[in-house]
Amino acid sequence: MASGDSFYVTTPIFYVNDVPHIGHAYTEVAADVLARWHRQAGDDTWLLTGTDEHGQKILRTATANGVSPKEWADRLVESAWKPLLETVDIANDDFIRTTEPRHEKGVAAFIQQLRDDGHIYEGVYEGYYCVGCEEYKSRDELIETETGDYAGELVCAIHSRPVEVLKEKNYFFRMSDFQQQLLDLYESQPDFVQPESVRNEIIQFVKQGLEDLSISRSTFDWGIRVPWDDTHVVYVWFDALLNYITAAGYGDPERRDEFRRRWPATHIVGKDIARFHAVIWPAMLMAAGLPVPTRVFGHGWLLVGGEKMSKSKLTGIAPQQITEVFGSDAFRYYFLRAISFGQDGSFSWEDLSARYQAELANGFGNLASRVVAMVTRYFDGVVPAPGEYTDAELAIQRTVAAAASTADAAIDRLAIHEAIHSVWTIVDELNGYITEQEPWVLAKDPATAERLGTVLYTAAEGLRALAVLLSPVIPKATAKLWDALGAEEGLGALTAQPIRAVGEWGRLPAGSAVSALEPLFPRIEEAPTAAISGAA
Ligand code: ME8
Ligand code: MG
Repeated sequence: MASGDSFYVTTPIFYVNDVPHIGHAYTEVAADVLARWHRQAGDDTWLLTGTDEHGQKILRTATANGVSPKEWADRLVESAWKPLLETVDIANDDFIRTTEPRHEKGVAAFIQQLRDDGHIYEGVYEGYYCVGCEEYKSRDELIETETGDYAGELVCAIHSRPVEVLKEKNYFFRMSDFQQQLLDLYESQPDFVQPESVRNEIIQFVKQGLEDLSISRSTFDWGIRVPWDDTHVVYVWFDALLNYITAAGYGDPERRDEFRRRWPATHIVGKDIARFHAVIWPAMLMAAGLPVPTRVFGHGWLLVGGEKMSKSKLTGIAPQQITEVFGSDAFRYYFLRAISFGQDGSFSWEDLSARYQAELANGFGNLASRVVAMVTRYFDGVVPAPGEYTDAELAIQRTVAAAASTADAAIDRLAIHEAIHSVWTIVDELNGYITEQEPWVLAKDPATAERLGTVLYTAAEGLRALAVLLSPVIPKATAKLWDALGAEEGLGALTAQPIRAVGEWGRLPAGSAVSALEPLFPRIEEAPTAAISGAA
């Protein structure tokens, strides 16, 4: 990307039937790291997240709790979903709720346009529906159970609960008209759906033939009214997908330029909902004559005990369980480093503790503390000017430059784990460099004072680059490091450092005044081991 380009990135809008678990936090963190990286690169960045509040699932939960669906949604948004963003340190630019007027107006305008242009007709939906998925199901997506509570019934393969059998007068979207256009899209834009495994599944699915989609419901009223028929509400997924454009200004004459500037977006979603985003959503946009998304990335699942962690199966771990012990930086780092973005990953407290200790505390945190302490001790806290560079320093400079450009290219491909891996080569090389150069030995002999200055300048300048490159991932620790390096005085705020220029050597001015640095990743006395408890 060239600096200044629009980078609009989204998370799914989450159902407010329950509180968030670490799966939702994972998606948030991934999108946030991409957004922070692009923002720091000078791109015209926008991170959108929010909540999905209509439909039967929310209606039923609210009713079961004796409140109206709107009251329920308000309560969950304020007590759980907005606080999630604090918990894992998300710097979102907007938060959309599907019950907001700006969204409802945009949805009404969109569906009316499709109706006027002949993409919508009236029909009867006869078939299955899973309220857990909020999805119309075909027979082959259901399982007939022989034992247990639902013996003899057809259950959803995902939720293991009985599906509804509907026969309802509904409005249909002529999605089948777009089958060929969708296949052409996947072909001509091979990175439209990622990763490859999800792309293949989507192509397979569309090749089998697309049916028209029921986009309204008439047996309950918790939703956005169909503008030409107030006995129907818009199908919750049709409503929800539109958040990505209504939040950006679609349907608002006063925000026309803003919408043109932002849209289209990169959608980060879990692979469970890739089909909605890579099939239904682009078909809707094609029908409206709007650009399709830039990319749809369906990341993998966090697994607990080999199964997808979920609210409905009570295997959810609350994000605070982790952040209260390890902090938000460690949460962000761990899930993005330990799991190849796109693959499933098993969560374990042991693995989290081990990486925290080895990589964050001993690898990065200790490096930062040692360098700051040595500058303090040997140079009265003033970053020395380097003397002549030897091969050892030039190797560090090459590592920094290579890591910076490799990481930026990886972020462009949404390969977040590769980006972090590249940046970490700097941590490892610097640690090795200090061990080899033995500054504590150089400090004993006045004859090697200049050499000592070269070594500590190199280490401090390496930390400058690390602070910038890691700030999208571990914003709190890098802010402390930036402070301790005294870098703000000469270079300005950390988040204002141009990330694509980070590899230019020598930006940290000699003469910068360092100050004490507390351990960035303090020792955890009692790390949880196996305990997993329900999120709610
Ligand atoms: O589907 N591992 O909302 P939802 C990783 N409202 N990610 C997980 C996860 C897990 N075990 N469990 C959930 C909806 N997620 C709709 C979306 S968008 C227009 C509407 C994450 O509350 C992942 O991002 O069920 C997944 O796609 C999403 O939560 C589903 O959230
Ligand atoms: Mg779900």
